[in-house]
Order: sequence, then C-alpha cells, then structure tokens
Amino acid sequence: MTGRLEGRTAVIVGAARGIGKGIAQRFAEEGAKLVLGDTDADCQATADQLGATFVRTDISSLSDAEAAVATAIAKHGRLDIIVQNAGIYPWQLIEQTSPEDWDRVMGVNLRGAFNAARAALPPMRAQRYGRILFTSSITGPHVTNPGHGHYAATKAGINGFIRAAALEFSGYGITVNGVEPGNIMTEAIQEHRGPEYIASMEAAIPLGRLGTPRDVANAFLYLASEEASYVTGTTIVVDGGQLIPEGADFRIAPP
Ligand SMILES: NC(=O)c1ccc[n+]([C@@H]2O[C@H](COP(=O)([O-])OP(=O)(O)OC[C@H]3O[C@@H](n4cnc5c(N)ncnc54)[C@H](O)[C@@H]3O)[C@@H](O)[C@H]2O)c1
Repeated sequence: MTGRLEGRTAVIVGAARGIGKGIAQRFAEEGAKLVLGDTDADCQATADQLGATFVRTDISSLSDAEAAVATAIAKHGRLDIIVQNAGIYPWQLIEQTSPEDWDRVMGVNLRGAFNAARAALPPMRAQRYGRILFTSSITGPHVTNPGHGHYAATKAGINGFIRAAALEFSGYGITVNGVEPGNIMTEAIQEHRGPEYIASMEAAIPLGRLGTPRDVANAFLYLASEEASYVTGTTIVVDGGQLIPEGADFRIAPP
C-alpha cells in the first residue's frame, strides 16, 4: 500500500539522523508533506533529499516548537501530524549526575514532549484533526541499565503524558500515541556504545539483531495513518522481543 499519508502535513522533530530520519523517509514515501526540525544543521541535507522544509528547532524551547508548526501552516495550510522524536541519552550514573545534567535531559526529552503537544494543539483543535506522536523507549517504562536514571525518568514520563494528553484532546479529534523502541542501530548507539554492548544486545534480543530506524518508522506510520483512527493514549513496543525473556538463558538449543 502506498499514499497512506497523501494530503497530510507532518512536523518531525529530531530528524537529522537516526530514527527521526527513518520516520521522515517513511512518511515521505507515503506522500506526506514534511517540515523537519532539529538542532543540527545537517538536517538540511535530509530535508533536501526528501523535498521537505528544514527549520532549526531546539525542542526544549516552546517558541522553537511553535515556529516549526507555524512553518507547516504557512507552507502547507495545515498540520495533521507532529512527531517529537528528539532525545538525548548521555551515559551517567546517578551519583555523577548534577542538577544541571538532570535538567538538560528533562528539557529535551520531557519538556520537549510538552512543547510539541502545546505548539500543535491550536491548529489541530481548530481543524478537528490531529495525530501527536512521541518516541518513548522500553528504557524507563519497562527496563533500564545503570547510567540512565534521568533518561529512564523522561521516557516513563512521556508515557504518562501520552495518556493525559490523549484524554484532554479526545474531544478535538486528536489522538496521542507513542512508540517504544528497543535497541535500534543508529549513529547515537554507535557513538555512545562499543561493539561489546551491541554484541550483548544481539544476544539478549530474541529476534537476534538490533532494530533499524525503518522498523520503528513503520510503527509510527501506522499510528499516523487512517488505520489507527481508534487508537489513542497508548504505545507500541518495537524491540525484537527483548522484553519477553525472564532471564539471559532463553535460547532453546536446536534438537
Ligand atoms: N537508538 C535506540 O536504540 C533508541 C531506543 C529507544 C529510544 N530511542 C529514542 O529515539 C529517539 C532518537 O534516537 P536516535 O538513536 O535516533 O538518536 P540520534 O542522536 O541519532 O538522533 C537524535 C536526533 O535528535 C536531534 N536533537 C537532539 N537534541 C535536540 C533538540 N534539543 N531539539 C531538536 N533536535 C534535537 C539530534 O540532532 C539528532 O538528529 C530519541 O528520543 C531516543 O531516546 C532510541
């Protein structure tokens, strides 16, 4: 099936690379008109590839979020979908985390979710249609590793915010949902994690591989499409089965 987002305008934040770029590519394939937001000017190259518009956006700022939405309205006359995917995950033990470190992660990951929803609400409410989508994580809502106290708190917080916003916006024709990726092979994972981590994750994931940005983007596409019109206030886990095993020794030796 193609053209699943034909006639729709989407803002995608955190789209220069990784999962956000994958979402932008997938949405473009399905006919969406795109405005891409990111702090990284390299996002212009992604936008050029996809015929999209790039707006420099720091999602921890409400006025930046509003400017990205205003660009979508000015260029395309409406805003149907917003994806707040930007996130940072510095590795830091709680005992090494300063209040400033904590606030920085909260500012991008959690305030960013509020800012995206707050900026998208007026036009979506006026047109009685909207899809507000967030990149959550399995880290926080379900599992975690040492070094991710602030990050886990933001992703669990996003899931709570999804439910609250879904309820408040339900009378406006707006749905609010999220995707919880497991371990996805992106530039950030390659920068922040060594080959040993990646090998240990491959061993821990029943499907035997890390996910791709496209695996995650396909779940976003469903939530953004007409097929998800009766789905709100929830998240889809895309983790290759990583949450299933009770322990590390789960592989059945072949007979
Ligand atoms: N890669 C994974 O395994 C994984 C797993 C679960 C959840 N996630 C989540 O997926 C999202 C994307 O992760 P990724 O691995 O693709 O990371 P990434 O670092 O490759 O991409 C993140 C993008 O967000 C942008 N960004 C960072 N701060 C921003 C800000 N303040 N405003 C606007 N843009 C900003 C970056 O420039 C970058 O383009 C994040 O929310 C992350 O928490 C990733």
